[in-house]
Amino acid sequence: ETLASELAQIQKGKFAHFMSKEIFDQTESVVNTMRGRLNADNYSVVLGGLRSQLANIRRSRRIIFSACGTSFHSCLAVKSIFAELCEMPISVELSSSFLDEQLPVFRDDVCVFLSQSGETKDTLMALQYCKERGALCLGVTNVVGSSISRETHCGVHINAGPELSVASTKAYTSQFIALTLIALQLSQDSLRTKARREEIIDGLARLSDDIKKTLALEPELKRLAVEKYKDCKNLIILGRGYQSATCLEGALKVKEVTYIHAEGILAGELKHGPLALIDETMPMILLMPKDRHYDDTENALKQVTTRGGRPLVIISENDNSPVFKDLNTIRVPQTVDALQAIINIIPLQLFSYHLAVARGIDPDYPRGLAKSVTVA
Ligand code: G6P
Repeated sequence: ETLASELAQIQKGKFAHFMSKEIFDQTESVVNTMRGRLNADNYSVVLGGLRSQLANIRRSRRIIFSACGTSFHSCLAVKSIFAELCEMPISVELSSSFLDEQLPVFRDDVCVFLSQSGETKDTLMALQYCKERGALCLGVTNVVGSSISRETHCGVHINAGPELSVASTKAYTSQFIALTLIALQLSQDSLRTKARREEIIDGLARLSDDIKKTLALEPELKRLAVEKYKDCKNLIILGRGYQSATCLEGALKVKEVTYIHAEGILAGELKHGPLALIDETMPMILLMPKDRHYDDTENALKQVTTRGGRPLVIISENDNSPVFKDLNTIRVPQTVDALQAIINIIPLQLFSYHLAVARGIDPDYPRGLAKSVTVA
């Protein structure tokens, strides 16, 4: 027992918990996901694990992504960039509902299964279902030799390094990058997307520095968690467009490690119900980066502030708009719109971590949860 805990402390290094270590690992883990695959000088991407099937993937009729939990959110996060670069119908399905719904899957479908552990039972069952129907199955996992890596026809390892905290952090950002690399490789020969691909690749090359700057916001996030949010009962995380998955993933982090009821709400849906929840007592976080959804998001902010809501707003570092003057803001580095969610999830990871610690919860071992769910 003491040996095990001493060993754990050595693995954690200077950090008190695996969760904080893994959040701070991200400056390196994102680089490890790209290493040997992305060449930013000549804008090329080579994923060795897909080579044998590239032509078949490009010929396919549709891409279905399937996963659970945080891995599901990484699929949602890249859905629109996949659709944009690959010009293919994309669907994202929870593995736990795939079989319930008996979704039609065909021989000319590509099915992509995302799993940090590579052992999640529901995801393995969805994989089996798609394989039986003749689809080409691709695995994206963090564990070499895991069941999902072995059972799929081809795949990509995210190389994020071991993730021990139950709440997934660095695997999320590495999954996001691995999926983005797949989209970049699939669209490599398209002239139409050349400029866009190069913009994204330049952004990937700067990502580690941007993450480093974002991690430096930790003291401010800790202060807000401890002073303002420690005792809240609810939390709404609001955003839209490229930040839709960030809202859901941020809320999942809060639920997992703080036991606060948190909900990710897409700003476009506000008027279809959630607006009724908003008053001066409802704690909220709003994601509002400078991208093409900015004006619509500002509109959501106004609807919220009109009702007395005072959200903490996560904005671009160079945003000097007067609309934030009475609000707490967190200023994050601005990157390419399609990669901004990698940056924006980090303050939410840090915030959940400090909220958990402030509430006396061990974020590495939340009650009732397991790192890997190997039963259906
Ligand atoms: C469990 C974990 C989550 C994880 C999910 C999917 O619920 O607690 O952190 O996101 O499983 O796990 P996977 O290994 O398939 O990514």
